[in-house]
Amino acid sequence: MLDLFLTRKLPAKAMQRLETNFHLRVNPDDRVLASEEIIEGVRDADILLCLLTDTIDRAIIDAGANLRGIVNYAVGYNNIDVDYATSKGLPVTNTPGVLTDTTADMAWALMFAAARRVIEGDRFTRANHFEGWGPLLLLGVDVHGATLGIVGAGRIGEAVARRSVGFGMRVLYSDHKSNPALERDIDARHVPLDHLLKQSDFVSLHVPMSSATRYLIGASELEMMKPDAVLINTSRGPVVDEAALVAALQSGVIRAAALDVYEDEPALAHGLAQLDNVVLAPHIASASEATRTRMGIMAADNAIAIAQGERPPQLINPQVWQEER
Ligand code: DGY
Repeated sequence: MLDLFLTRKLPAKAMQRLETNFHLRVNPDDRVLASEEIIEGVRDADILLCLLTDTIDRAIIDAGANLRGIVNYAVGYNNIDVDYATSKGLPVTNTPGVLTDTTADMAWALMFAAARRVIEGDRFTRANHFEGWGPLLLLGVDVHGATLGIVGAGRIGEAVARRSVGFGMRVLYSDHKSNPALERDIDARHVPLDHLLKQSDFVSLHVPMSSATRYLIGASELEMMKPDAVLINTSRGPVVDEAALVAALQSGVIRAAALDVYEDEPALAHGLAQLDNVVLAPHIASASEATRTRMGIMAADNAIAIAQGERPPQLINPQVWQEER
């Protein structure tokens, strides 16, 4: 049996599949490992199964002299130096598709929470401040009938957009390529980012993290948004300049934000946690029991394929794969 090093425990069904197919070594604690600990762990490993919280850099890849592949338990893979892994001929895999709908659901949960001040209302009520119905109590903005701007109309962005139909929303999207299905099915309009920012009441971010998307939303983009607009981020934290967002929320440049991801996760930008007009979630957009299990099974299946010398189903870097290998 090949040796697989897993940086943190996964849901039970995924653990069972890994235990059945590998000599499994797993971080016994439910915490993020330090880089040195991962280096120690990969030394004898044939396969590394890692999380988005693990930065898999050259030092780690070089330490894994026997490595046959790197399996990420996430759809995003900006935590891995894929170019370096590719230069060493190592397949890298991710978990696309299985978390699309769960993540889209959470984008909507955040959108409603921010628009209708659900978290503020909860705090207010628990603090015994509720003294009866009031005409001016915790007024929010309507989601129905509003304009939804989707930045990045891939799988998750598309799923968020499709959910808008029941709320009678107009949908704009910006992406480097068009999404004809979205245009045909829900009449979404493909527009440049600045147009989207100026026109949308809700802006939801769904781009992958890369050098091109770092600080895609900074001070000048926030300035373009409507004063009543709400920004939702379930993609990756560094897509937004978080200090600029704090300033925009403090000064009323935009109305509110709802975030599942942070620039320097798990740390929050100075001042963010003190704001009432932001909803903060701890990177849980894919965190349903069923979805986290599906992600684990998918990751395990990618690892099993690599172990068997087969092309893994969710291969990010097909350059490393030649059929004759
Ligand atoms: C991912 O998979 O990239 C999400 O951020 C967490 O599930």
